[in-house]
Amino acid sequence: MNPAAVTDADWYRQAVVYQIYPRSFADANGDGLGDLAGITSRVDHLVRLGIDAVWLSPFYPSALADGGYDVDDYRNVDPRLGTLDDFDTLVDTLHTNGIRIIVDIVPNHSGSGHAWFQAALAAGPGSPERDRYIFRDSPDDEPPTPWGASFGGPAWTQVPDGQWYLHLFDPAQPDWNWDNPEVIADFEQTLRFWSDRGVDGFRIDVANLLKKDLSEPLPRGRDEDGLSWATHPRLSDLPSVHEIYRGWRKVFDEYSPPRVAVAEAWVPAASRVAYASPSELGQAFNFDLLKAPFEAGAWRRIITDNLELAARSGSSSTWVLSNHDMVRHVTRFGLPDSDLEGTRHKLSGGDDPVVDLPRGLRRARAATAALLALPGAAYLYQGEELGLPEVVGIPDDQRQDPTFFRSPGVDVGRDGCRVPLPWTVDGTSFGFGTNGSHLPQPPSWGDFSVEAETADPDSVLNFYVEAVSLRHELQTSEELVFKDSAPGVLHFARPGGWECLANFSEASIDLPDSQVVLASGELDGDQLPAETTVWLRVPTTKG
Ligand code: GLC
Repeated sequence: MNPAAVTDADWYRQAVVYQIYPRSFADANGDGLGDLAGITSRVDHLVRLGIDAVWLSPFYPSALADGGYDVDDYRNVDPRLGTLDDFDTLVDTLHTNGIRIIVDIVPNHSGSGHAWFQAALAAGPGSPERDRYIFRDSPDDEPPTPWGASFGGPAWTQVPDGQWYLHLFDPAQPDWNWDNPEVIADFEQTLRFWSDRGVDGFRIDVANLLKKDLSEPLPRGRDEDGLSWATHPRLSDLPSVHEIYRGWRKVFDEYSPPRVAVAEAWVPAASRVAYASPSELGQAFNFDLLKAPFEAGAWRRIITDNLELAARSGSSSTWVLSNHDMVRHVTRFGLPDSDLEGTRHKLSGGDDPVVDLPRGLRRARAATAALLALPGAAYLYQGEELGLPEVVGIPDDQRQDPTFFRSPGVDVGRDGCRVPLPWTVDGTSFGFGTNGSHLPQPPSWGDFSVEAETADPDSVLNFYVEAVSLRHELQTSEELVFKDSAPGVLHFARPGGWECLANFSEASIDLPDSQVVLASGELDGDQLPAETTVWLRVPTTKG
């Protein structure tokens, strides 16, 4: 990394960040699970993509009750994924290639195999060990509150001595008690542990949930079905949660450049401002485009609102079309428009609406070109650069997501976006590893492989490479100005004569008389076809 880049404290504001779900990226030791050495062996792919940073989803020791988001030891590497030495090698290799790394911190809950949870179970009611988690008595044989867990079922599980512990997610993910000073100190130690090893920042899992109001009287009756994490007054976004992040900011600022962080906070848009402020985490995910229809008006509103919110927080905005929790956007955009919203992970391949994949892909390319032209940080999810669709129809006995087991079977869960990447056209697991893959890859996977797409000049991969590289060249500041445009069309200008014209409509429109530097699909003479985006270079007027 060049010396100026190393000291640039603002690197994250306009970064292209690539999310790696480590178990599904590349498998170096042939056990069917991706690992850290696998990532290191594929750094050339990341270099070619031109990304600024990698966000690594959890790679810590875990029983995998929730794909690694059940952490049994926050300061170690899952032996199936490698060692701390492998981690150091990965960080060095990325840094040598000018790529930063942020790691996932999961502070709302641990895994049930965590030493402190095991100690809490052994120590019994009223002990200091139990106070690190949220244990309660309940007068009758009902859970202390009627809350439902995010993956289905009640949010409390009873232990043999009669007490109940709270888990907003799976029973294997007991919630920490953030009123306990030992918990606060332990997480600060974790932040320093990884910062000392050279990580550049952190992605904070469900940052809004850490503090809970369990003061009496606890609600009785049944509200399991109506529970909404974003707005539940006793569970989400309590004012005291921000004290935690103000404390973390002090830790981040012990380093030079300061470590950065991005909050995953499922809260109403206006409430994101505090998490993203420079006195707290510094940035927060905006998930609006994950839920947005493919529609110019909706995009314009989302862009306007989020640039305004980001300015209010003193941060930059973030943009996301796919991640490890959502149906991949090629598939989402191929659904009938009426089904676009509310499609979190409901596709089973059974009675689901028919997906028009060619259309989904066309729209996905157009959306990506629009997203990469926006000011702020672009978060990409592994495999979207290959145009991977969601894998539907994974056999029930091969599913892994707790959502599937606890719904039960009603919501198929998130495995379809976590299927291991294809690297080669043929071969065992399409180059993912030498011995199969932990989730089944469909037979068509080779067509999407890095090898196949490298050879095809019109591939999604070559389009991403070109777009990311041009973005770096063209991006000079964080300003954006909307231009007048017809309904169904989004047109905005960035400083230096860079414009983005996105035709969300179903009809062609005239292309202006300026140089096209990037096109998400084939152009038709002087026409911009339906569902296609271009970047233009327009002469700047010197004043
Ligand atoms: C976040 C993660 C998700 C995980 C959940 C519980 O939403 O993105 O994958 O299941 O938190 O940790």
